[in-house]
Amino acid sequence: MRALLKLYSLSRAPACLLKYTSSAQWILQQGRGCSSASPEKQTPKTSMLRHLTSKIKATGPISVAEYMREVLTNPVSGYYVKNDMLGADGDFITSPEICQIFGELLGIWCISEWMAAGKPKAFQLVELGPGRGSLASDILRVFSQLKGALGGAEVSVHLVEVSPKLSQVQAQCLTGDQNQVHEDQSVYRTGTSASGLPISWYHRIDDVPRGFSIYLAHEFFDALPIHKFQKTEKGWRELMVDIDSVVPDKLRFVVLPTPTLASATLIQPDEKRQHVEVCPEGGVIVQQLANRIAEHGGAALIADYGHDGTKTDTFRGFRGHQLHDALEAPGTADLTADVDFSYLRRMAEDQVACVGPITQRNFLKNMGIDTRLQVLLRSCADPSTRTQLIRGYDMLTNPQKMGERFLFFGLLARRRLAPPDEGGDLKKKRVPLPVAGFSELGNGL
Ligand SMILES: C[S@@+](CC[C@H](N)C(=O)[O-])C[C@H]1O[C@@H](n2cnc3c(N)ncnc32)[C@H](O)[C@@H]1O
Repeated sequence: MRALLKLYSLSRAPACLLKYTSSAQWILQQGRGCSSASPEKQTPKTSMLRHLTSKIKATGPISVAEYMREVLTNPVSGYYVKNDMLGADGDFITSPEICQIFGELLGIWCISEWMAAGKPKAFQLVELGPGRGSLASDILRVFSQLKGALGGAEVSVHLVEVSPKLSQVQAQCLTGDQNQVHEDQSVYRTGTSASGLPISWYHRIDDVPRGFSIYLAHEFFDALPIHKFQKTEKGWRELMVDIDSVVPDKLRFVVLPTPTLASATLIQPDEKRQHVEVCPEGGVIVQQLANRIAEHGGAALIADYGHDGTKTDTFRGFRGHQLHDALEAPGTADLTADVDFSYLRRMAEDQVACVGPITQRNFLKNMGIDTRLQVLLRSCADPSTRTQLIRGYDMLTNPQKMGERFLFFGLLARRRLAPPDEGGDLKKKRVPLPVAGFSELGNGL
């Protein structure tokens, strides 16, 4: 691994903005979500608010999952569908945007898992929710610099992106003008990277070709719709989004008096918490990944802010790098909820081996971020770039910043971790390589 780390050099200017806001805990008051907005405050009537209020008037309160789905990915006016919200001028910033080292180390992780799988000839890199394409771009630069290590593998890149606007930004970043749009097709855009690799875009993971793949999902699962449940004297009840009966054009949370299908089926029988968020769409996607990995080999790396089945009320909005009331001016702010990794593990572990979650700080340190920073600093004389690299490193690894709030979780083919003596009839006993990032850096690769 160290050998791989030394081989590539500084070639992307780091992003300058390092702003990060930690989440606030909400307090549920008598089953209604409190908000930072005062009850008297009139909310701007966005087209999304008009759409949601007519929907609620027609059919009654909607689940938080439906609210999130409409606000974020409604095909006409969804927040992700029409905005480029990332970066200094947007609503939030993510690790790949902060510092190039992040993507480079994930590139090394992909190669390391490809090697551990016996270097299959065809190698699909699949990213879910690629944002502005910065992570894929940093990874492809590593692939290009480590062509020798990739030994002629046929690498292809597959991006699952719901947003036409962001897919355009990704295409520009990864292919320049070398891409074409295909209306109404499951592969809705194709292109070629600067180093000549084929890149394809899809709306859904189902459409990505099956085969050996390394899947990456960075800040993807936190954007998927969650259901919210509250324990009451009568049992678990679902929180819904309704129109405020007093303030016009304002939305509020209400607790349904009777169970819903979701409240009856999504809560674990031994649940100890009083408030729970469940993301069934995330469960379905992680099962699809697990199924593909079990059948065709490969691995998935999921990185997000999250917890291991301990947190309760984490649903929140972000706008202009500030916390934002999730029910106010819908469509103008990002909505997010911490990922419950214990739930993802439950959904996947029948089919694959799960590793983690482990903190971002530990993952990146295990991947050699300190060595990489030193290499970059040695080759960089420009004081402002040096300052940005050091700030970016601090942002990613400092326990008070992103170091401990962000977690890394991996799905691996079971055979990847098979004990050395498994398959007693094998002539050669194979010692599995340690999983990069989840154990301390070795000198092996
Ligand atoms: C929070 S952004 C993270 C972007 C990027 N991974 C990063 O870390 O900078 C979420 C990404 O997932 C995409 N996305 C959200 N919901 C999606 C869905 N249901 N299917 C596919 N992509 C989705 C968004 O358009 C966006 O690219």
